[in-house]
Amino acid sequence: MRRESTAFTALLLLFLAIAFQIPAVKEMATRLLRQSTHSVRGLLPHYKGRVLPAFLISSNINSQSSSHFHTSPKPQDSSSASKSIMANAKPFLAAVENRRTFYQMTNESTIPDARIKELVAHTIKHTPSSFNSQTTRAVVVLKEKHQQLWDIIMEVYKAMLSAEAFEHAKGRMTGFKSGYGTVLWYEDTSRVREFQEKFKSYEDKFPQWSDQTNGMHQYVLWTALEAEGMGVNLQHYNPLIDARLQTEYGVPETWNLKSQLVFGKPTGQPGEKTFQPIEERVKYFE
Ligand SMILES: Cc1cc2nc3c(=O)[nH]c(=O)nc-3n(C[C@H](O)[C@H](O)[C@H](O)COP(=O)(O)O)c2cc1C
Repeated sequence: MRRESTAFTALLLLFLAIAFQIPAVKEMATRLLRQSTHSVRGLLPHYKGRVLPAFLISSNINSQSSSHFHTSPKPQDSSSASKSIMANAKPFLAAVENRRTFYQMTNESTIPDARIKELVAHTIKHTPSSFNSQTTRAVVVLKEKHQQLWDIIMEVYKAMLSAEAFEHAKGRMTGFKSGYGTVLWYEDTSRVREFQEKFKSYEDKFPQWSDQTNGMHQYVLWTALEAEGMGVNLQHYNPLIDARLQTEYGVPETWNLKSQLVFGKPTGQPGEKTFQPIEERVKYFE
């Protein structure tokens, strides 16, 4: 009860701060919100089961501004203070838990295109890679370009599958086409090769590390888009579509297509998900 009244006060203060542009009140509201993340969720039934907007749970209320996505801390700033963007892991873990596979979506977006670009840039810049090799590449297609992409994929599949098999596949692809955008994830094999040459003793490891780093990028953007209200799913129509997309988007020959991340405004709910017992999947030695 006490937490709820703290959250209510915090929301009230936040409203006043935004309405009257009072920085001190903004700061006070932020501090209170940080103390009461859970109860804020309770006060906002609209967000039940979804992540709270970042600015409500971030330790810095200004972090919703786009500038946050363009600055990286200077080396001398990388003390614990500059690292603690979040007060704790809660908002991050909430985003992790709320990320699901959404198939039903419309061709609308919950965020402006500029914000989508920021999320992509942030993902590309900050997701780790082996030896900081930065081998991941992305091609982002939105709106009509997204629809064209799925028409192309359907065309390629139609030419390759039996009529019956294509009918089945077409239903799914039409669903993806109804979204707002797709990110095509690639790995630049020439860069992977460079690192294989540079670090000979790990030569055989780099291809798997390249796949792993690509998966991390997919995951970061998937989670970030859903934290901002989008519905997302992950597809693998490669390698059948690789050659055609290479021509269509002028993609270098050395870029190897890994997956297609499809997104749009969600209309349905994700399917039920079962979980294996954690104890069977994790061993602890303390
Ligand atoms: C590496 C990987 C590959 C996947 N490939 C596909 C895919 O090709 N098509 C698809 O519809 N979903 C794909 N998925 C989504 C999974 O089916 C989904 O994440 C899983 O069932 C758990 O559900 P959730 O995403 O709602 O948590 C993939 C997920 C991962 C992590």
